[in-house]
Order: sequence, then C-alpha cells, then structure tokens
Amino acid sequence: MCGIVGYIGDQDATPIILNGLKKLEYRGYDSAGIAVLQDGKIEVRRDAGKLNKLTAMVEMNPMTGNLGIGHTRWATHGMPTVNNAHPHMGSTGEVVVVHNGIVENYLELKEELLAEGIQFKSETDTETIVHLIELYLGLEADFTAAACKALSRLRGAHGVVTFSTREPDKIVAARIGNAGGVVVGLGDGENYLASDIPAILEYTRRMIFLESEQMVVLTKDEVKLTNFDGSPVKPEINTISWDPVSAEKGEYRHFMQKEIHEQVRSLTDTLAGRVDFDQGKISLAQLNLTAEKAKQIQKIIITACGTAAYAGMVGKFLIEHIARIPVEVDIASEFRYRDPIVDENTVVIAVSQSGETADTLAAMELAKRKGATLWANVNVIGSQAMRISDGFISMQTGPEIGVASTKAFTAPLVDFYMLAILLADLRGTIKEKERRQLVSDLRLVPNLVSKILQSEEGIIQAAREFKFIKSALYLGRGINMPIAYEGALKLKEISYIHAEGYPAGEMKHGPIALVDRDMPVIAIAPKDPWYEKMISQIEQAKARGGSVLVVATEGDEKVAELADHVFWVPETPWLLSPVITVIPLQMFAYHIASLRGLDVDQPRNLAKSVTVE
Ligand code: G6P
Repeated sequence: MCGIVGYIGDQDATPIILNGLKKLEYRGYDSAGIAVLQDGKIEVRRDAGKLNKLTAMVEMNPMTGNLGIGHTRWATHGMPTVNNAHPHMGSTGEVVVVHNGIVENYLELKEELLAEGIQFKSETDTETIVHLIELYLGLEADFTAAACKALSRLRGAHGVVTFSTREPDKIVAARIGNAGGVVVGLGDGENYLASDIPAILEYTRRMIFLESEQMVVLTKDEVKLTNFDGSPVKPEINTISWDPVSAEKGEYRHFMQKEIHEQVRSLTDTLAGRVDFDQGKISLAQLNLTAEKAKQIQKIIITACGTAAYAGMVGKFLIEHIARIPVEVDIASEFRYRDPIVDENTVVIAVSQSGETADTLAAMELAKRKGATLWANVNVIGSQAMRISDGFISMQTGPEIGVASTKAFTAPLVDFYMLAILLADLRGTIKEKERRQLVSDLRLVPNLVSKILQSEEGIIQAAREFKFIKSALYLGRGINMPIAYEGALKLKEISYIHAEGYPAGEMKHGPIALVDRDMPVIAIAPKDPWYEKMISQIEQAKARGGSVLVVATEGDEKVAELADHVFWVPETPWLLSPVITVIPLQMFAYHIASLRGLDVDQPRNLAKSVTVE
C-alpha cells in the first residue's frame, strides 16, 4: 500500500514523478504529494484526495528540479487529510520523507522526539522518521549516515525514501522488514526509485530490488547499495520483460475492463513454454521439482488472501482430484497466528499477485521456519514472495492495475491445473491416456475465454437490470464453489453491494431464509458433476420467489426454462470450468459498478497491495 516514486538526473523530476504516481494510484488514493529540490530548497505540494487534485495543484503552482520524490497514500495512521499527506518535512526544512508501511515503534520514538522539544504537525507515524533523521543530522554532518542511523531504529515493515538540502545530489532509500518493496531503476546519467515496477517501466527495464534491511544511495550516475551496517552489497540487476504499454488503459474506460479482456492473452502466455502438447507433458522449471521430491510430499497447504485464496480453493480441488495429495487452504492472516501442522514433507504454496501482501509473506516465513518446502505462485517479478520461495510458478499476466483482481485470478487456476498434472506425473499416479487428455484440454482455454468475452453485451443488459439491487447470493458447488465466493467478492469490492458466496448445498442451512424477490440468486451451474444438484437449488430459490441468474453451458434448455437471466458459457472440460465461469461474473460486477458511476479501479477503502497487517 502507498506508492512511491523518486527521480534524480538531468530531466525535470516533476512530470516523471507525477506520471509514475499515476501508474501507482492503485496502491492508495487517500492523498498524494510531491517534493522537488528547487534552487536548493525543498518545494512540496500535497493534497488530500486523488492524484488529479495534486496534478491540478502543480499546474497552478509549478515546481521544477532535477531531484524529487512523490507519494500516493493509503491511510493507516491519521485521517486522509492534507496535513497527514506525504511528503513530510521536518522542522528545519532540510529533510523530506515519503514512506510506505507502518512504523510499529512510532509512539516510543515520538515520545523521545517530543522530549527533545520537537513539535509534530501530523498524526502520522511517518513524521517520526523525518524528525529522527533531522535529529541525527544535527549530531553528524553526513546526511547518509544520519538517515542510516534513523532508519535502523524503525521497527515494522517499510519502504522509506528521503533527501536533504544538505546533500543535494542524492536520494536515500531503504527497505525495512519484508513488506514495502523498493525498486531502483537504472538509467543513463539518471536513476529512478519506486515502490513498484510499473511506475518506472516506461523509463527503464533494468531494475534492482532491495532486500530487507538494505539501503541505497542514488546519485544521477551511481547506485550504492549497502546493508544498514554500511557493508557494501553487490546489486543483482534484473531485466524486466513486461511491456510498458500493458500498464496503460488504452481504449478501455477502466483498467479492470482492460484486464478482463486481457485474459485471452494472459492465459495463452500461461501455457507458453510449459505445455508440450505432443508429449502430453507439463514443465514448470522454476519450481525445481524432481520426481523424488514430488514423491516425498505428504501434504500441501495453500495460503493466500482475498481473491488469491479463492484461486487456492480451486487449486485444492485440482491437486486432490488429479494428483491425489491432501491439500488444505488456509487464509494467510489466520495461518500465521496459528500453530499449523507443517513439517519437511509439507509443501506450502503461497498465491499472491503482488508477492508482497504482508499476511501472505508472514505465513510463508512461518512455514519456512517449520521446515516446509515453500512454493509461490506469484505475478510481480522480483517480489519478496518470489525471492523467499524455494521454487515458484510465475503468473504470466503482466502488470495488474485494477484493484479488483481478474486476470491474476484465472492465471493461478491454470497454474494449479498444470501443477496437479505435473505432480501426478512425477509421482506416477496418473495413467498416460488421462494425462494426455488433461494436457490436451488446456489447448481449448484461450479460445473458450475469447468466446465468453464476446458475450459482453448480454451481461451489460443484465447489469442494467440489476444495478440497484441491495444484496445478492452467489451459489456454487464442487469445483465451482470458490467461483461463488469470487463472484460475490468482485461485486462487493467495486459496487459496494452486499453479496455473499455460499456452497449451494448449504443454502438450506440458513441463506434460503434470505431469498425473496429482492434478493437475487446468482447460481453457477455449468455442465459439471454437480449440475443436477445445482438445478435443484435453483428450483428451490425459484419456489421462494427469488429472481435467479444462472451461469450455464450453452444449449442447456432446462436452465433456459428456469432462469430469469442466463450468462451462457461454452462447453468446457469440467476441471477447467472455473476459468470460464468466473469471467461473466467479473464482467457483471464491472458493469454494475460502472453503471452506478463508481470508481471501478480505485474502490473506496481498498488497495491493491496490502503491505500492512
Ligand atoms: C487485496 C486486493 C485483492 C487481492 C488481495 C491479495 O485485498 O484488493 O484484489 O486479492 O489483496 O493480494 P495478492 O497481491 O497477495 O494477491
């Protein structure tokens, strides 16, 4: 959460920073601010609310300089007001700071600073950082040393970026703890900083990812990476293959809409290089998985948050069904505080688009401490989840900007499908004919997705009709049960309509009491092994006066007769059906929110990467 951008070089820093912040707005949009070193003085503009307010402010009152930092905020400590907006200046006007994360010991530090007679101007934990740097700067002549001293006193997980008029040719940044990533972008006679790749991808593809407890000092010609104790670190330079254009909205109104439509490409890329259709084989090289290791696995635990956890539920189904290994799915924020039963024969798989969700990372670390093998199914290249895992499957989705996750939901479903086949193959528990069939079915996926995307018009019509509903009940069963959860989550995240996902068989144990004319039921009932059961749930809902919208397989006359609305999906091998059934529900949620005039890409109170607890 919170986006950070920094620039040092010969160009004007202001447009580069504002442009970078635009790409990071998904990380937080409670306030935005920028600080530029102009004629030896720190100039700050900041405002509550979204970035366009800041941009207008800068247009009215321009600032220019070759060094600057910027921030978009997702409020944790202190309301989203101007005073609490970053960048924060200290009392001397010599230091400025932007920050992503929480200073866990800020009360203790604040007391110490108050005792020194320092006055605070905001309610943020961040302000302690800038005062602390200034305090040490009073004692030392060297800004880098003062910053290092101050930063090493912070507890928690953060990315911090600062500069000072005392040494006007450098920016200092640090990563503390596991969340709050800091990325350095290498230019020619200029360098960049960001909390996340898309902010600077337009300018450079050569990037360095800071590890925890590392600091970097940037000048326009040099990047000096050290540990907090000052010992030098040799930076590993990564070349990012993401296409900068994929971080732009293009012809679409919202990133979410664009990302829904990108699923044909992302799923094609998901298969590329991993599926050998001739041999009927799967290869997931970055997992480092041998047959011996595959045979040792006694249990798999999938841990994740939000949409990623629902993808994990489908993953459980696939691995248990295809590879016959027991799988548990555990919400990361729960797993991390339990004493889960994990040993060296357990594989823990973390699913995370960002690879920096604080709870997921904490769950991964716990699993590692307990001796499990750690795998990650992760999208952001170089993210912490990718780096701390023993092996990973990289989601081939490219940058996902819309806060509500779409293409980073379907990619893991296919990743789990492939993983299940690979595990079964390496353990020798699948017949060749069956394996070949499962692999061959993968070939259908991009085409099936493309077909559904063409049915958007019908979904818009349904969205028009349903846009004023107050609540909705999503029902699914078997492998499509998690799709009920995910469909409901999409609706509530972006339309602020209450929605519940429920295993359809549980309807009679409670939710059926809610069903009436005002509570539509959205049933996921493709032709899969639970089809008949779903039909009887739909009949029960109809009998109670509910209006029923069904996701069903083309040509299903029974559903056509029963349902008030149908989202038709093409016939799909049932183990792959969740990849297909979720897409109309993504579009439905998108169009309802859009018709309600809501900010689809930046829904209230949410952020894309939740790097705090
Ligand atoms: C936030 C996002 C969700 C996402 C979840 C997990 O809540 O709004 O869309 O599913 O975090 O994020 P991750 O990056 O770990 O997949």
